[in-house]
Amino acid sequence: MILVAGGAGYIGSHTCVELIKHGYEILVLDNFSNSSAKVFDRLKKITDQDIPYVDVDICDEAGLESVFSTYDIQAVIHFAGLKAVGESMLNPLVYFENNIAGTSTLLKVMKRHTVKHMIFSSSATVYGEINPSPYQESMQTGMPTNTYGYTKLVVEQMLQKLDQAEEGWSIALLRYFNPIGAHPSGLIGEHPKGIPNNLLPYVTQVAVGLREKLSIFGGDYDTADGTAVRDYLHVVDLAVAHVLALKNRLDHTGCDIWNVGTGNGYSVLDIKNTFEQVNQLQVPFEIVARREGDLASFYADSSKIQNELGWEVQYQLDDMLAHSWNWQKNNPNGYESA
Ligand code: NAD
Ligand code: UFG
Repeated sequence: MILVAGGAGYIGSHTCVELIKHGYEILVLDNFSNSSAKVFDRLKKITDQDIPYVDVDICDEAGLESVFSTYDIQAVIHFAGLKAVGESMLNPLVYFENNIAGTSTLLKVMKRHTVKHMIFSSSATVYGEINPSPYQESMQTGMPTNTYGYTKLVVEQMLQKLDQAEEGWSIALLRYFNPIGAHPSGLIGEHPKGIPNNLLPYVTQVAVGLREKLSIFGGDYDTADGTAVRDYLHVVDLAVAHVLALKNRLDHTGCDIWNVGTGNGYSVLDIKNTFEQVNQLQVPFEIVARREGDLASFYADSSKIQNELGWEVQYQLDDMLAHSWNWQKNNPNGYESA
């Protein structure tokens, strides 16, 4: 059985669908700090399965011990983390405790039960400001511009040191670029609590009338249209990358790194304009000052994951933006509108 820690969240729930599609038996572990157990009703509609889950925190060693003693766990896909950049700058200790100490506790219990396969949700933020795009896995990591990103770098280094020190670990560090979109069914998607930090949820909330207009952070970057460029990928393609990484890790030992991005860069204005065109609606906007810590442009070199894991992108930007809107318009209040 595969333990999906943080499996009730945005990327985790999409990964549950792909794992089931590929025949894996799964157990979700989540403390629901940024998700709702209502997601399981939606997952049942998509997969026709009742996915078992436990309400446990990765910082709770006794809780984890009970899970690993009760279930026959073979590998862990580890999504359980806090991810709000602004909050991480205000409350670093909360991020150290949840993301770093929580992962350490999870690893300790895994080791006790001889479970040594882990797929970890890292981020392109670990490349820092020093590296030019396209980012390649062989580059030296830099210093992330925020505390959230710093926790990702620390956990990557913890996992690398663990692998160097002890035999038998099998770890994948997946460095995500910018996941957007939702399941094509419109049944699961992203619904951030409060004001969205990320671009796509903000765009869809403006389009649905929850917010007045989009603020575009910076129009004077050294890019084609002056707005910042990112590598957006469909969350279902990202979910499939986890299945491929898991298959690979179940047959290998060691710690390996894969970028998960398409290699294409789109600007904020590209996203807004394409969203309007694909969905036939208007998104009022204004260009405001740059957001502190933002980089002008970054995107992936995705050749390693393509060559080594056979990952292929199934969805293009139009699909990502159509699926984001399909989810938002059918679920203006996320799972609460069910
Ligand atoms: P999410 O918040 O939707 O999902 C994370 C899940 O983990 C939530 O269900 C939350 O309740 C749970 N969780 C958090 N702390 C926990 C704890 N201590 N114990 C148990 N469960 C806990 O976020 P997401 O977008 O699905 O991201 C998943 C992972 O991918 C996170 O680690 C995130 O940092 C990482 N990541 C996300 C992005 C992105 O753009 N979404 C980019 C790079 C990396
Ligand atoms: N943006 C806006 N207006 C908004 C929101 C975002 O213009 O309301 C812009 C940002 O300035 C950026 C782009 O849209 O240029 C994408 O922003 P996101 O916040 O969606 O994504 P980021 O690339 O900034 O953030 C990602 C991950 C974080 C990670 C960070 C580190 O989502 O988890 O990279 O670089 F920490």
